[in-house]
Formats: sequence, structure tokens, C-alpha cells
Amino acid sequence: MKVLIDRSEVDRRIGEMAREIATDYAGSAPLLIGILNGAAQFMMALLDRLPNEMLEQLDYDFVDVSSYRGSESTGRVELTKDLVVAVEGREVLVVDGIVDTGRSLAFVMELVRGRRPRSLKTCTLLDKSARRSVPLVVDYRGFEIEDVFVVGYGMDYDQRYRALRHIAAIE
Ligand code: IMP
Ligand code: MG
Repeated sequence: MKVLIDRSEVDRRIGEMAREIATDYAGSAPLLIGILNGAAQFMMALLDRLPNEMLEQLDYDFVDVSSYRGSESTGRVELTKDLVVAVEGREVLVVDGIVDTGRSLAFVMELVRGRRPRSLKTCTLLDKSARRSVPLVVDYRGFEIEDVFVVGYGMDYDQRYRALRHIAAIE
């Protein structure tokens, strides 16, 4: 494993993203939806950097999806854990750790959109945008990365290395 983005750089960027989100959602009561497990560590770090006034208004929840990667072109995504919090009329921000083909996030966006949020945006720590196979708008992006397999900050390799505070590339 090789360090791709070190801890201080990840922390710095999350601080920047939190400031941008705090500005954009000022005065509203956002609902953050994290996609398990990859988004958990990032979403908690993001929340930790948001101002108290915003945390008083904000709610968060998680969904889980599983994708079948047997064949890339026919990759199917299935919901394995639904939301508890109601979406209708909310300012929703869907948070993921990494967007690759975009299928998982696009699937969750479709699910949430069907429940009539007032607004709907996306946020990811890492984006392998060159790998995108479905149209998707990423509103808040931590880092654009190349097509390498990464672990850390929620990202795993066979469930290992998720808890790292930095992003590492597997060589
Ligand atoms: P997508 O549906 O193809 O965008 O894939 C997104 C999901 O694939 C992520 O939530 C991760 O679970 C997984 N994934 C994609 N690339 C990586 C990686 O480099 N490391 C770890 N997990 C990854
Ligand atoms: Mg995931």
C-alpha cells in the first residue's frame, strides 16, 4: 500500500467542504444521507466540522446498497437498508465515500428523488470520474483520483483497511 492522500490533506479538504456546505445550506434544515459503509467515516468527519447552528437543524440517516459486479455492463444495485427518516420536503444531501461507475449513487438518488425532497445534491470524498458509466452530477467532491483501487477513510479491500485516517492505493 502506498499513501495517496495523507491525513492532514484529507482533514484540510474536509474542512473546506464543510465550510462550503455550511454556506450553501445556511438557514435550512438539511438531511444528510450516507451510503454505508463507505460514507460513514467521511460523513462523521464532515459533521464534526459543521457549525453548531447548523447541527441544531440538521438530521442524518444511512442507507445501504449492494451491487453485483459480476458483469460491469449489467451491474445491478439493490437496496439492503432503507432510510428511517422521511425525505419529503427536505433539503437532502446524499453522501458517499467514493464514486466509481456512479451506479450506487445514481440508484440512491433515484430512490430519494421518488420521495419528493425539496432539493437533492450529492457529495463524495473521492471521485474516479473517468470510470463513470451513468450520468451523475457530483455537487461536492473532495478529491478527483485516477483509476486506482484505494482504501482508508471508509474505503475497504475485502472489508479491511476502512478505518485508516489517510487514503492509500493498493499496488
Ligand atoms: P459505483 O457504484 O461503481 O460508483 O461504486 C461505488 C462503490 O464501489 C463504492 O461505494 C465502494 O464501495 C466501491 N468502490 C469503488 N472503487 C473503490 C475503491 O477504489 N476502493 C474501495 N471501494 C471502491
Ligand atoms: Mg459503498
